[in-house]
Amino acid sequence: MTKQCDLVLEHVRIASMQKNGTPYGELTQSSVAIKNGEVLAIFDPSQENYQGNESFDGENKWLLPGFIDCHTHLVYGGNRANEFEQRLQGKTYTEIAQQGGGIQGTVNATRESSEQTLLSSAIKRAARLVEEGVTSIEVKSGYGLNMQTEIKMLKVARQIAEHLPVNIVPTYLGAHTVPKEYRSNPDDYVQFVCDQVIPAVAKQQLASCVDVFCESIGFSPMQCRKIFTAAKMHNLNVKAHVEQLSDLKGAKLAAEFAALSVDHIEYLDPKDIPALKRSDTVAVLLPGAFYYLNETQKPPVAELRANNVPIAIATDLNPGSSPIASILTIMNMASVLFSLTPEEVLYGVTVHAAKALNLPNKGQINIGKDADLCLWDIEHPAELVYGINQHRPVAKWFAGRQC
Ligand code: NIG
Ligand code: FE
Repeated sequence: MTKQCDLVLEHVRIASMQKNGTPYGELTQSSVAIKNGEVLAIFDPSQENYQGNESFDGENKWLLPGFIDCHTHLVYGGNRANEFEQRLQGKTYTEIAQQGGGIQGTVNATRESSEQTLLSSAIKRAARLVEEGVTSIEVKSGYGLNMQTEIKMLKVARQIAEHLPVNIVPTYLGAHTVPKEYRSNPDDYVQFVCDQVIPAVAKQQLASCVDVFCESIGFSPMQCRKIFTAAKMHNLNVKAHVEQLSDLKGAKLAAEFAALSVDHIEYLDPKDIPALKRSDTVAVLLPGAFYYLNETQKPPVAELRANNVPIAIATDLNPGSSPIASILTIMNMASVLFSLTPEEVLYGVTVHAAKALNLPNKGQINIGKDADLCLWDIEHPAELVYGINQHRPVAKWFAGRQC
């Protein structure tokens, strides 16, 4: 019996990224039926028949889920090329931040930028990711730090999806740095975040997560605890930049709040890893920031693996520590710099990245999951990680529509 659907993709090799025991979740079937933006069936045409309003011949190329960039700061004003020059002359990222540059520099530029200016520059950056096969992007605020500009950033983030075939997940990162107007009383800023901004973000449904930068140049564990408590009170999930430059035990704290993810974690103490496993928290590695800041301390990959903590990879696209609008480059860096296998990297930008954003319908090719798919002209999925800037998807579908 022939069953009806919107689209049939035929003659494809499927790296489903399901965890089914085969490398890359490879499936033996060669066809995918899509209906209402979801995968309706994965089938073998010699056994089953689906009739699509349209069909597409994949010519035996590889079909993968669209990539998910689960950590970016791609809405911002200005750029920090001047700091890049300072860093080349020997100043560190921390020194620049302490002297009022760094994140605060971008805060000044973002406050001054109109919504339209922010949107058009953000669209350009997001388009770079999208052309490489990214179909979902998390976008953090955190360069406004006052009510008006944080809300402006979150709204701009959401609007990107009106211009590109991509799903946007906005995250409120009020605790990115203490803004200059609160320098002498940072706890008052934390109170403002907890009492005023988090309730407004929750009420207006501007974000589903709250993030923090737990670091000496960011916020103390005690301050982050207050912010996490307020987030949970408003039914928002938490995520955290932790252990990027030092070990403040931010990951352990985040695990207490069942954080969706802990991000960076170069300085994570392996003793804190079992807590992440218990809280089902994803470890998000950001090799772009590691590379760009010339770090030497690597995240404890072997121990994360040994404890079966899911590892995701993201660009951290931002103007200071990772001005890198390329998921494919970051995927290669994750292997070369952190020794992740190509298979781990691909799980890291699909299933595990989806988990870091609480997007259970994305990140794998499976029945009932969203049909965000990319077709690649490669002999093997590892090629996507092995080279740099060698491939683009030859065809893409977002929510079942070719784009
Ligand atoms: O993820 N660590 C804090 N936040 C960003 C950097 C932001 C910036 O330098 O503008 C990060 O690396
Ligand atoms: Fe970040």
